[in-house]
Amino acid sequence: MWRFRDVTSRLHPPDLHLQWMGGSPKCSPMSVRSILIHPDPRLKKVCAPVSDLSDEVRMLAADMIETMYEAPGVGLAAPQVGVLSRVIVADAEKDPDATPKPMAMFNPEVVLASDETNVYEEGCLSIPDQYAEVTRPAEVRVAWIDRDGNPQEAEFGGLWATVLQHEIDHLNGKLFIDYLSAMKRQLITRKSQKLKRERARA
Ligand code: NI
Repeated sequence: MWRFRDVTSRLHPPDLHLQWMGGSPKCSPMSVRSILIHPDPRLKKVCAPVSDLSDEVRMLAADMIETMYEAPGVGLAAPQVGVLSRVIVADAEKDPDATPKPMAMFNPEVVLASDETNVYEEGCLSIPDQYAEVTRPAEVRVAWIDRDGNPQEAEFGGLWATVLQHEIDHLNGKLFIDYLSAMKRQLITRKSQKLKRERARA
């Protein structure tokens, strides 16, 4: 049996908060990218690891943060904007008045998960308006590379744990509906397909 000792206080280590708005001279302004809607074959692919933190990759992460806030959502994975790279962004801060604290993670990986589970009603920006309860480990230890190329590792609980697991799943071509019964999954897929067709026509 394995437990986290003090998850809450370690949720948001201040040095991990990214200052994407800082405007380094190399970066062009961030832009909102369009989000793929399920079903799409690109959402079923296993994404490739990031081998080089190029300006292009950093720009991708900055755009993803912009896209996530605009949606609005609490997390976004690169395949959702059609890039099959292991990049996720998240901001699961619940307080709407809190300063935004987006995190960008390159090659994120769950290295340890609690036996204890949590149930959240999950949704996905690639499956608009559809929600379902998903059971996942309540706490996870995640390892990733930060935007400066440094390896990081931290423990996450609550909504952060769920969001990070959901986004990391995306990098492996897995959607939250893959945890549901075949019947529920097909129902949601049909609704999403219909919405996708309607949007294409609009
Ligand atoms: Ni999603």
